[in-house]
Amino acid sequence: MAVLAFETSCDETSAAVIRGGRILANVVSSQVKLHAEYGGVVPELAAREHLRNLVPVAQSALDQSGVQSREIEAVAATRGPGLPGALMVGLKSAQALAFVLRRPFVGVHHHEAHLYSPWIQGRPSQARFETFQPNVSLIVSGGHTLLVHVESTLKHRLLGSTMDDAAGECFDKVGKLLGLAYPAGPEMDRLAREGNPSAFDFPRPMINERNHDFSFSGLKTSVRYFLRDHPELAQEAKSLRDLCASVQCAIVDVLVSKTVRAARQCGVHCVTASGGVTCNSQLRQRLADRCARDHLELLLAEPSLCTDNAGMIGVLAELKIQRDRSGTGLEEDILPGWKLENA
Ligand code: KG4
Ligand code: ZN
Repeated sequence: MAVLAFETSCDETSAAVIRGGRILANVVSSQVKLHAEYGGVVPELAAREHLRNLVPVAQSALDQSGVQSREIEAVAATRGPGLPGALMVGLKSAQALAFVLRRPFVGVHHHEAHLYSPWIQGRPSQARFETFQPNVSLIVSGGHTLLVHVESTLKHRLLGSTMDDAAGECFDKVGKLLGLAYPAGPEMDRLAREGNPSAFDFPRPMINERNHDFSFSGLKTSVRYFLRDHPELAQEAKSLRDLCASVQCAIVDVLVSKTVRAARQCGVHCVTASGGVTCNSQLRQRLADRCARDHLELLLAEPSLCTDNAGMIGVLAELKIQRDRSGTGLEEDILPGWKLENA
């Protein structure tokens, strides 16, 4: 028996097949090129593209998994948060499928799924919940920056979130100021590898505040003013690399410092991280160094599971269906602004 899962909350159309915590197939069709010329995700285009891609993506996930439709035990989809039109395509298609197959439907909170993605490891990817331990989880993407205390499986408490821009948004907006293409995070990461992180001193917003919230818009603004006064620096290859390394270092300093402080305050011995920005090589390295120094176990989502994918949706749905056989209901609607506290 298997779970067929869909993810369409933003600009990735994804379908996955999960059995016994193992991801048998996880097909992701990214729309990033489509949105690149607009410098960000265009909601209407995203929804139309999901409509176009959902059936072929689901078909290839089923083909790759070798699972027959009669073996599907439950159908799952992201219910929120996300773009309304985009969510609607995945959720309503999944519910229609569940109705026809006479199987339970499970609506999943996108960030709750991110919380458990670091526990999915190995090749083939397998959820290892038998090794679960209470942790503080950092979710960093283009749309969100969250710190969450995960007390046990399916039990979490939001500690803090960003007051303005998300960390990924900061990478993307600063990258745009530097003349890099959207999304700029991966390119900044690459350029920063040969740059000097101490070349320029940018602010580390809220790093010393006792709460678990973040703010990245001030950092972006400070880069904007800096470039207004020194426009030539973004044009020259060496100083561009130094700028990327310095901004990246400011973002990573804040993320690492606040995550480890939250772990200490919550009294946990484990830190996890997921979301697109967790692909960042410096963030991965610095979290590893800091956690080793502080005797904290660290689980980073594998890069392919950091960005949005239906595999993580299916893994969480399977966990939920094991606890509550009836699913969450065919009548439920999308929740574009669904708060993690209410999941
Ligand atoms: O999770 P994700 O695929 O989509 C959502 O935002 O939901 O994350 C995309 C974000 C973008 O802002 C992108 O620039 C950032 O993750 N990102 C990175 C890296 N790879 C992706 N940021 C910094 N370094 C990277 N290597
Ligand atoms: Zn996400």
